Amino acid sequence: MNAGSPAALLEVRALHAGYGASEVLHGIDLHVGRGEVVALLGRNGMGKTTLVRAITGLHRARGGSIAFRGEAIESEAPHRIARRGVGLVPEGRQVFPNLTVHEHLSAFERASDEGPTSSPAERIGRVYELFPRLRERRTHLGNQLSGGEQQMLAIGRALVTEPRLLILDEATEGLAPLVRHEIWQSLAALRARGQAILVIDKYVQRLIRLADRHVILEKGRVAWTGTSTELDADASIWQRYLGV
Ligand SMILES: Nc1ncnc2c1ncn2[C@@H]1O[C@H](COP(=O)(O)OP(=O)(O)O)[C@@H](O)[C@H]1O
Ligand SMILES: [Mg+2]
Repeated sequence: MNAGSPAALLEVRALHAGYGASEVLHGIDLHVGRGEVVALLGRNGMGKTTLVRAITGLHRARGGSIAFRGEAIESEAPHRIARRGVGLVPEGRQVFPNLTVHEHLSAFERASDEGPTSSPAERIGRVYELFPRLRERRTHLGNQLSGGEQQMLAIGRALVTEPRLLILDEATEGLAPLVRHEIWQSLAALRARGQAILVIDKYVQRLIRLADRHVILEKGRVAWTGTSTELDADASIWQRYLGV
């Protein structure tokens, strides 16, 4: 593991987290390098959401450390972590029903710590280029959007902050095949631009095409980690840990 590597964007070490009396994460190690795409896999209830909520400050870890660009963030508030450049697309999208598409993007375009490299209009424009459907729907309210449009908006909302690391918790869950395809295409386009991504999803085959590395959680522990080539070559891993 390239712990302490200067290329490491995110470095999670020995992370413990839980709810009440029950511990859910029992010492997780995970890293994402600059420009790297890492997939976080595992069946339901294995701790994926808890892990990304701990990384983004939404759920306080009980032990271990989380560093972003070499600085400890495990005790920081979510908005501080966001300003450092961690953008989350939360599970369930969490789009505001009574804000329009454009209002969502404008509300979230807040500059990151080191100042944006482009104007808000340019950044919102890039989101509309990535998802032309959002431009068409710019005056529609959140609750007037389809599930796919809501997910595009949730991704766009994270992207207008120019995140150094984009985290997607269930990138395509509950979406129709055509829309899923659009989401995968957009993630591939982001990857080609050098966007670092930590992505949770259940479509192993698509993740193998998108990601550099894979981390499989099993009951709050890292059960397997390896490259796309390794995961592609061994279907017994899919069967054992993912049930597919
Ligand atoms: N708010 C919560 N309160 C209590 N237990 C929770 C809460 N959220 C998740 N859990 C439990 O933590 C475990 C991991 O859940 P989660 O992180 O959501 O897994 P995943 O995202 O992999 O499906 C599960 O057993 C789940 O029931
Ligand atoms: Mg989850």
